[in-house]
Amino acid sequence: MKVVCYGLQWGDEGKGKVTTYLSKDYDYVVRYGGGSNAGHTVEYGEFKLVHHLVPSFDIRTNTKGYIANGVVVDMNVINEEIEELKRIGFDVSERIKISNLAHVVLPVHKMLDEKLESIKGNKAVGTTKRGIGPAYADKVHRIGLRLIDLENKELAIEKLQFLSELYKKLYSIEWHDFDSIFEEYEKIKKYIVSPIDIKSELSKSNLLFEGTQGVLLDIDMGSYPYVTGTYCNVTGTEPGLGYPIKLDKRIGVFKAYLTRVGEGPFPTELFGEEAEELRKAGKEYGATTGRPRRCGWLDLPILKYAIEISECDEMIMTKADVLSGMQKVKIGVRYKINGKTVEMPNEISVLEDVEVEYIEFNGWKNLEDNNFQKFVEFIESETGRKITYLSTGAKVSDIIKK
Ligand code: IMP
Ligand code: MG
Repeated sequence: MKVVCYGLQWGDEGKGKVTTYLSKDYDYVVRYGGGSNAGHTVEYGEFKLVHHLVPSFDIRTNTKGYIANGVVVDMNVINEEIEELKRIGFDVSERIKISNLAHVVLPVHKMLDEKLESIKGNKAVGTTKRGIGPAYADKVHRIGLRLIDLENKELAIEKLQFLSELYKKLYSIEWHDFDSIFEEYEKIKKYIVSPIDIKSELSKSNLLFEGTQGVLLDIDMGSYPYVTGTYCNVTGTEPGLGYPIKLDKRIGVFKAYLTRVGEGPFPTELFGEEAEELRKAGKEYGATTGRPRRCGWLDLPILKYAIEISECDEMIMTKADVLSGMQKVKIGVRYKINGKTVEMPNEISVLEDVEVEYIEFNGWKNLEDNNFQKFVEFIESETGRKITYLSTGAKVSDIIKK
């Protein structure tokens, strides 16, 4: 089985938790894109982990993790995550593999991310400043440093020196201290594999691909330019892995309401007290940056768009428990411009200008409540997709099959 579990919104749908839950039935969880901008929170009960780069496999099982070439790797971050796992009693050194063609996120990438954002001023994307965009840009510029390049220290130093000069000339960014790169490489080295060597093993294995961010942050199909630097859609699995893959199932994860970190359009956004109530109840603060997430109601046109362009087979809904106890719960069902109903615009930057028509549901006390059933049935009938699991709380075990 080859299955992908990905986000149908602007990230933070709870993919980390869901992936961890599902992972026990797979040989590998495969990260195919993104980098340490991702913050996949996994609450085991006794302890909580936030994965930025380590794939979200259940550490209590034998499932392994593969970081494919589509990921940009901040070596420092992954080494720390692996150390943290060791500290709490889980040695995962035999369970992690990283493609040697993955590009390395360098300090200059983070510096440039920061600088670009500050120059853009009120047009800033609101990135995580983890150097993601610049690392992918250098990959495309064909000046990036891959893990494989670090095998030969002399050549790697030449490449780093070239990059250092280039960053100075192009961006007035100074960086000369390469030592930490080699120190981190020494620690990460044992996990590095060739994507060719691992291909036949992967083709025989049950793979669970773990998406990062959400379809609406996809570089092409998301709300450009307010997106991340790579493919968040399920289409990213192939370029991420470097070879074709036939997916048996696409499982889209969505939250019962909606959040977004960073800038960009958000038609169903709430403000003031209403937003604060949702933010507090759902603990909606960025797992990577700690920023308060923007909060709003579930947006059906956006969900339908994400389902359509990812050819979603089935869905998992998370965080409906956060809405328990509310008097009324809303879903944005249609967009209007100047009072006239409009279809979901093809160019989703137009989302800036739409007004939203809502449908209101009576609140529910708990997830057995009939009012919650009505909410679920409405979403299923509008999207034409089944919700197969409901996440009912923060812990990995808080999930029910529907
Ligand atoms: P970048 O990925 O750091 O370049 O940021 C680009 C946009 O994607 C910003 O709006 C970020 O807040 C958003 N973003 C990046 N990673 C995540 C994530 O894991 N969850 C939610 N939003 C994210
Ligand atoms: Mg997150």
